[in-house]
Amino acid sequence: MDVTLSLTILCTLALIALLSVEPVVCSRHGKWGGETKLSFGGNEDLVTNLPGQPHADFRHYAGYVTVNEKNGRALFYWFYEAITNPDEKPLVLWLNGGPGCSSVGYGATQEIGPFIVDIDGQGLKFNNFSWNREANILFLESPVGVGFSYSNKTSDYVNMGDDFTANDTYTFLHNWFAKFPSYRTRTFYIAGESYAGKYVPELAELIHDRNNDSSLHVDLKGILLGNPETSDAEDWRGMVDYAWSHAVISDETHKLIRESCDFNSTDTWRNNDCNKAVDELLKQYNEIDIYSLYTSVCISNTASSEDGSMQVMMKRASNMMPRMMGGYDPCLDGYAKAFYNRPDVQKALHVSDGRKLKNWSICNTKMFNEWIYTKPSMIPIYKKLIAAGLRIWVYSGDTDGRVPVLSTRYSLSSLGLPITKPWRPWYHEKQVSGWLQEYEGLTFATFRGAGHAVPCFKPSNSLAFFSAFLLGNSPSATRQ
Ligand SMILES: *[C@@H]1O[C@H](CO)[C@@H](O)[C@H](O)[C@H]1NC(C)=O
Ligand SMILES: *[C@@H]1O[C@H](CO)[C@@H](O)[C@H](O)[C@H]1NC(C)=O
Ligand SMILES: *[C@@H]1O[C@H](CO)[C@@H](O)[C@H](O)[C@H]1NC(C)=O
Ligand SMILES: *[C@@H]1O[C@H](CO)[C@@H](O)[C@H](O)[C@H]1NC(C)=O
Ligand SMILES: *[C@@H]1O[C@H](CO)[C@@H](O)[C@H](O)[C@H]1NC(C)=O
Ligand SMILES: *[C@@H]1O[C@H](CO)[C@@H](O)[C@H](O)[C@H]1NC(C)=O
Repeated sequence: MDVTLSLTILCTLALIALLSVEPVVCSRHGKWGGETKLSFGGNEDLVTNLPGQPHADFRHYAGYVTVNEKNGRALFYWFYEAITNPDEKPLVLWLNGGPGCSSVGYGATQEIGPFIVDIDGQGLKFNNFSWNREANILFLESPVGVGFSYSNKTSDYVNMGDDFTANDTYTFLHNWFAKFPSYRTRTFYIAGESYAGKYVPELAELIHDRNNDSSLHVDLKGILLGNPETSDAEDWRGMVDYAWSHAVISDETHKLIRESCDFNSTDTWRNNDCNKAVDELLKQYNEIDIYSLYTSVCISNTASSEDGSMQVMMKRASNMMPRMMGGYDPCLDGYAKAFYNRPDVQKALHVSDGRKLKNWSICNTKMFNEWIYTKPSMIPIYKKLIAAGLRIWVYSGDTDGRVPVLSTRYSLSSLGLPITKPWRPWYHEKQVSGWLQEYEGLTFATFRGAGHAVPCFKPSNSLAFFSAFLLGNSPSATRQ
């Protein structure tokens, strides 16, 4: 989105709060990827006594990586080695969206990590479908201000945007390789969902652009995107059509939106009819879980409603991607918050000394509201990455109302890619897991009956799909 669009929205739609800020120039220091720092592969970050952790036969590491010394910016990561043969498996970076939401709180402990927060906030349970069965998985809280990640310079927090995030994540990656040198040349993939639909291609592009310098080369082979924000105009149109086709809004509201809203325009919200009709859509979605249409909302009093909750995000629902939520247990956000604010947990994860604690929340609402530098469309980046020969797989849980399957289909169809294999079901454990469309340079799949955070709803199917992605093999075309 350009600044004009942002300011227009700010002036005309109270729901949307975006602030204009100056970009910062991030200062780099030293040389990437030196093999000098730690000879024992990040052992100081080895996690040895995480409270309530189930038994595990693999190592995991957590801690900070400094991405900017001058301002004191440090990003928090949690890295799980593959359960078997980590030396032979690829490295996958997982990112959640928001913007402002934590990959530790969502990806690692509600979706694809090996330890999932238990419902009492006191411990963890083992996830039998953890993606570290197939790869070494690196979770990153980015940018600074998300989860445990921080900057010592508060002015950094008003400079948030896509490029700033991509730059720091890129720096993180090289500094992380300095801690874990054996991964420096490893086959690498980036995966993520939701607003990471922007982070992931943007980071991939940055890596691709810098890869011509052999000292910076990263062996990026592909990207995997789940219910990703892709192209603002198409995403909006899909959200509206989906709400109508799933009986969330009336024929009249749908018609009004279709007639009055120009989502391609830079002043969409200047149209009062459009504004009001979209408000009506958001009002209906406020009654249910937009991220998972057919599951219950969290009513429990233990849930975090003071910050980062779905309610708050939806009140401010903007043209930005609200945070993701969903899963079998819609109260998990609150449990995660209880867990990560425990002194013994923070100590075990090398976040604090256990006395002076960090204040962890699953999403940073302020960041979400103040995010301004966002690119309106990833389509040009997709084209570039396809031309570069990267593997691009996009999947979509088909009961998500926030970045619904229709949004993704509209976005992908605007790429105009030739179809290589016709639409067909794909199977898992003898059932149709969803449908698949293969294009030249891109694979698109749906997950039948899954909400926004697909692996929460379909853990076994997701793991199988992830495995297929890594192998570059289409998911099963037969029931058997
Ligand atoms: C931030 O400031 C604290 C307190 O001075 C210091 O301990 C820490 O190392 C700084 N962080 C970074 C990344 O420089
Ligand atoms: C966990 O997964 C393994 C391998 O897929 C399987 O053999 C085992 O039965 C599963 N355990 C449970 C409790 O589901
Ligand atoms: C990102 O990094 C590039 C190259 O170093 C720089 O030109 C650009 O200003 C940075 N953008 C932000 C927002 O920090
Ligand atoms: C890499 O490519 C960019 C743009 O194409 C160019 O400006 C830069 O000089 C190249 N760097 C190297 C080391 O070749
Ligand atoms: C946005 O504009 C493009 C180019 O004119 C068009 O192809 C696309 O359908 C438009 N999208 C929406 C949602 O109106
Ligand atoms: C932690 O953050 C929440 C909101 O993000 C705030 O209400 C609370 O006061 C903070 N607590 C501390 C100890 O800073």
